[in-house]
Amino acid sequence: MSEEKIYDVPADVVRRAHIDNGKYLEMYERSVKDPDGFWAEQARAFVTWSKPWSQVSNWSYDAKNLHIKWFEGGKLNVSWNCLDRHLEKRGNQTAILWEGDDPREDKKITYRELHAEVCKLANVLKRRGVKKGDRVCIYMPMIPEAAAAMLACARIGAVHSVVFGGFSPESLKDRILDSDCRVVITADEGVRGARKVPLKANTDDALTHCPNVHTVIVVRRTGDKIAWDARRDVWYHEQMAQSSADCAPEEMDAEDPLFILYTSGSTGKPKGVLHTTGGYLVYAAITHKLIFDYHDGDIYWCTADVGWVTGHTYIVYGPLCNGAITLMFEGVPTYPNASRFWEVIDKHKVNIFYTAPTAIRALMREGEAPVKRTSRQSLKLLGTVGEPINPEAWEWYYHVVGDARVPIVDTWWQTETGGILITPLPGATRLKPGSATRPFFGVMPAIMDDKGKLLEGECSGNLVITRPWPGQMRTVYGDHQRFVDTYFRTYPGMYFTGDGARRDKDGYYWITGRVDDVLNVSGHRLGTAEVESALVLHPTVAEAAVVGCPHAIKGQGIYCYVTLKVGVESSEALRKELVQQVRKEIGPMATPDAIQWAPGLPKTRSGKIMRRILRKIAANELDNLGDTTTLADPSVVDDLIRNRVRS
Ligand code: WTA
Repeated sequence: MSEEKIYDVPADVVRRAHIDNGKYLEMYERSVKDPDGFWAEQARAFVTWSKPWSQVSNWSYDAKNLHIKWFEGGKLNVSWNCLDRHLEKRGNQTAILWEGDDPREDKKITYRELHAEVCKLANVLKRRGVKKGDRVCIYMPMIPEAAAAMLACARIGAVHSVVFGGFSPESLKDRILDSDCRVVITADEGVRGARKVPLKANTDDALTHCPNVHTVIVVRRTGDKIAWDARRDVWYHEQMAQSSADCAPEEMDAEDPLFILYTSGSTGKPKGVLHTTGGYLVYAAITHKLIFDYHDGDIYWCTADVGWVTGHTYIVYGPLCNGAITLMFEGVPTYPNASRFWEVIDKHKVNIFYTAPTAIRALMREGEAPVKRTSRQSLKLLGTVGEPINPEAWEWYYHVVGDARVPIVDTWWQTETGGILITPLPGATRLKPGSATRPFFGVMPAIMDDKGKLLEGECSGNLVITRPWPGQMRTVYGDHQRFVDTYFRTYPGMYFTGDGARRDKDGYYWITGRVDDVLNVSGHRLGTAEVESALVLHPTVAEAAVVGCPHAIKGQGIYCYVTLKVGVESSEALRKELVQQVRKEIGPMATPDAIQWAPGLPKTRSGKIMRRILRKIAANELDNLGDTTTLADPSVVDDLIRNRVRS
């Protein structure tokens, strides 16, 4: 292996950081030797409780008795922690700094204003009959009302389920039904890159199959004409005008549910990842402060969408719990031009910037000029999340965007983990481009081989975590067995992440990507099974097999092998129809990159599709197809190779 590059921590970064390397080592040691003592201390430091807990942790990773509980008996309210408790000291400080899709549009919302907005909306929800434990679906563009909606649910103990605004009506419907949401909060339309997203029309479509939804609260974003059902739909602004800004927070138990967020797995439909109140908030707050080295007054910008877990934890809950200034961006990185990110950084004097490798790669393609015509002097820290970052993109981010002046935190985590688990700390960790480096406090990663053996020292294999942390998901909503089977069966007694990883001689972790049938397309998680189900819904399709293929910008592209029914002719028109079919069923982010007509698929004699071979063909790694002798009909492979779709 070529010599590894290492970047030392700059002295000025060490000086201002909350945590230097000595402190990291000491605190890490303590956090794994005395986890309950460590987390009790942090829970008191980061969150205000109305009643103390009776037990710090109570857990078992044993599949027969799986349970994970933190701070049981402790009482708190998340919206109170994110809003009310800041009013005295920073009521007039900006909480949400909103930058519109149109660069001429922005606004600042103080903690006091956000508090009033959330209380009013909580009262609106109550008036519409929402009670503690009820599920509320939020299908919104990136506007402050999305954060207000989440916090309003938290205030009254309702469980929110945010559905990303890029999902189709079909996907929205599935999610509403799975958790029986009866209220939906949406907007007339969203705006991204000057294009409108028909959120209300999508909601109307979805709701034709959701008879239990009695209320749709609609934010007026664009003011365009939309269909209206007077029995069901109410305007956000009209309801708010009749609402009091006085709403006592519901006292919640640490283990009461806070939210459900659907995510894709290797099989079946997306699952509702359930996060609870106390542990999640403690974990969101501590990771936000220490990993982004947040100091009072810093302007912090995470470019994620609130529809994904990164938006939940690192736009809304972590920053607001810490009294931070959190920037929320409605637009896209390339509108009106490829300087937009860097212009926003200069405009708002952003100190901490957190984005995804796919955005970095897309902007890298535009060259250095769009970056270099901006100053970016306010930056103190850069971050990345969502997929492995290739060293080339890392170096570009570091040298071109950060002027080799500021550290990068490459943060590895998952919807399931609630917050970051493996990451550098800016004042403590020497950086290696492409490595997520070391575990955060209390996190115990390990690497296993395929046979279930724990590997030591330098090694590569499958990444597991051997004991819980407060932000861990508690169950799959409505299907605890699926939680057990998905995460705790492969390696008994351990949480299996679904990711592959390598550990180097310095104990640094390098995440190599998913080892299951989950795709990571532009940082969006998709199950190959979901795309396959969408394809076979088409009347001409007999069978479909979907795999990931390397993609220069998206990280992974979607490569589909489609077997048509006997007598159906393939054609360009049909190809387009199938692409549309997938977009309609799932959403535009699932648009297939390649569709290959496959008269036959490589199957074992027992009928199992050999995806390993399909992945290799899609990646054009043809010299190393592995053993094909166990195939029922090895000749199908030659046909697939001959008709490979080139990107
Ligand atoms: C991948 C996003 C490498 C990984 C927070 C994980 C990463 C999946 C990184 C979770 C990273 C996320 N380096 N891979 N820094 N961050 N991943 O649930 O495969 O949308 O399992 O959560 O993204 O995606 P999810």
